[in-house]
Order: sequence, then structure tokens, then C-alpha cells
Amino acid sequence: MGVQEIRRHYESAAMDTTIAIDVRGLTKSYGDVQAVAGIDLRIQRGEIYALVGPNGAGKTTTVEILEGYRPRDAGTVTVLGYDPGQHRRQLKSKIGIVLQSTGIDQFLTVTETIAMYAGYYPNPRPAAEVIELVGLESKRNIRVVKLSGGQQRRLDVAIALAGNPELLFLDEPTTGFDPSARREAWEVVKNLAALGKTVLLTTHYMDEAQYLADRVAVISAGRIVAEGPPGTLGGRELATTVVRFRLPAGQSLPPDLAASREPDGYVSFAPENLTAALHRLTGWATERRIELDSLEIVRASLEDVYLALTSGQPEPAGMTGQSRAAAGQPAARTAAR
Ligand SMILES: Nc1ncnc2c1ncn2[C@@H]1O[C@H](COP(=O)(O)OP(=O)(O)OP(=O)(O)O)[C@@H](O)[C@H]1O
Ligand SMILES: [Mg+2]
Repeated sequence: MGVQEIRRHYESAAMDTTIAIDVRGLTKSYGDVQAVAGIDLRIQRGEIYALVGPNGAGKTTTVEILEGYRPRDAGTVTVLGYDPGQHRRQLKSKIGIVLQSTGIDQFLTVTETIAMYAGYYPNPRPAAEVIELVGLESKRNIRVVKLSGGQQRRLDVAIALAGNPELLFLDEPTTGFDPSARREAWEVVKNLAALGKTVLLTTHYMDEAQYLADRVAVISAGRIVAEGPPGTLGGRELATTVVRFRLPAGQSLPPDLAASREPDGYVSFAPENLTAALHRLTGWATERRIELDSLEIVRASLEDVYLALTSGQPEPAGMTGQSRAAAGQPAARTAAR
């Protein structure tokens, strides 16, 4: 990228206040491992944007560069009008962060912890309000060491919210949450977006990306291999639709509804014209008073698309943040940076 082009990038991104994050040609290597191999991203203010991808794909590295906590090798990056590599301090008061692994003081209480982090920000939210947002009311005076894994994660989210930031980075915010806690966390994130905040999150849960994200980017081996709204990512809306049902024993379908019978008693077929095929099938069944048990129309899920896009992609050598944490080694950084 030439000097002129870089200057134009910064001028346009800094002036366009509708853009929260603008990234061009981002790269980052750790020794021989190229973690980020040329990423372009543009995230609008108020958008919820999800990065998904296999372990070691480069999600955390990308997020940390945008947060200003990791230097990049090349590329241009603008976050809320700032270059995080140059203006980390200015940026810090406007962003909230949930790290993949945190190192918060275990001996403070929930309220004390939130109040401490709130103190770093010019316009914090009241601690009680933040505690309510993440559903930790009954634990407000409990020491962090006594919280369960999922409750600690909620506290991580609370810390990120304490400063009332414009932009939130959530690196696997709901890992370890039980299903109902995950739903509650989703509502927290949706509410933030309703307040006009921008959210960049990473997740390994496709239902989370589907529910929360306006747009999803699939990262594989340091590159974005697909990007778009969850409903149309990777041509998902064009993928074959399958009709499935159970056919009572002894019944067989007319030959024009060429269907295959599965070992579990289900019959399925992938029609070219779904409406016409359903009409034919249900007409045939109704005429014969046959009940098509468990009749369903199955579309490619976001997870199907994700698996197709990332299959056969080798994980880069080395350990990821999660595997480091699993191995009991300290994470590279702590929250109290
Ligand atoms: N501090 C580090 N030093 C050396 N290599 C690193 C470091 N952090 C990450 N890596 C390597 O960079 C690559 C990308 O890692 P990163 O943590 O960005 O992946 P990720 O997509 O967040 O993975 P996960 O889903 O497991 O969190 C991996 O190969 C990882 O081993
Ligand atoms: Mg990660």
C-alpha cells in the first residue's frame, strides 16, 4: 500500500463517523506462524459483528490488534477514528473488552471489582446497574474466587460494560455458560446494540452468531473465507433444502417423488421446486389418509455452512489462547493491563 493510499484510508475512516472499525490488509506473525494473513474488515457503528473460525484461526490476534494490545506487522487499522497502534490511551476510554482468558483479582468482591474497573473510565455506569445487566445481583458481595466459571465469565462481561463504552470487544463471551445464562447474555448484547453500541465478538457457537450478529466473518488460517449476514453466508440461502418425514411401514412413495429411506425409518428428498414437491407429497398423503409423521423442511444451518467452509483447513502450528489456558499456563495477558 502506498503512502498516499494509507493517508487516504485514515482520512476517510476518521471522517466517516458511521464506521466503527476499518481494517485493510492486516497481517501478524509470531515467529514462523502467520496468525493473520491479510484481513479486510469494515464494521458500521451500531453493528454486531461476529468472527467465527477454528482454534488458532487468528480471531483473538485480530481482536487484540484492534484493541491496541498487540502490534501489527502490516496493514491499516482505524477504530473509532483512532489507529490503535498509535492512540491506545485515547481508544482505551471508549472501548470495553472481554478477553478470552482473564486474570482478575480473586479476593475482591463482585461489586469491588466492577467499581475498580469503572474508576478507569471518564463516564462509567453505576456498578449496581452493570451487575443487574449481567444477572449477578445475588453475588454482588461474594469474592470472585467463590464464583463458578460461568459466573466469572458474567463478571468479565460486567467489567467490559463498567466504562459505558461505545464499542465492545467480546472474545468468546459465553464460553462456559449454561444454556439459560447464554440466552441472558445474548439479551445483554442485543440491548447494547439497541443503545447504539458496536459489538465485535468471537464465538464457537453458531447459534450465538446466528442470533446475535448482523454480519458474520468466517476466519480460517488467518484469512476471511466468507462474510455476510448469517442467513445468507456462503450462499446458505441457495443451498439444497431437504424434505424429511416418516412413512408408515408398508407404504411406498410414488416414483416421481424419488426419495431415499434412511435406516432410522425417515424418508428424505431434495426437491428442485420445493413448493410443487410439497404440494404433490401432501396431496398424495392426504388422498390416502397417510400421516407423514415428523414432516420437516431442513435447510442448511449456519453450522453446516461453517463446517463446509472450514473443513480441511489445517490449524496453524502452536498453541492457542484456549489451549494455553487448558494446559494450566498463564494467559499471555491479564485484564488489568
Ligand atoms: N502470544 C503468542 N505467541 C506465539 N504464537 C501465538 C500467540 N498467540 C497466538 N499465537 C498463534 O497464532 C495463531 C492464532 O492464534 P489466535 O489466538 O489468534 O487464534 P484464535 O482464532 O483466537 O483461536 P481460538 O479459537 O483457539 O481462541 C495460533 O497458531 C496461535 O498458536
Ligand atoms: Mg481466541
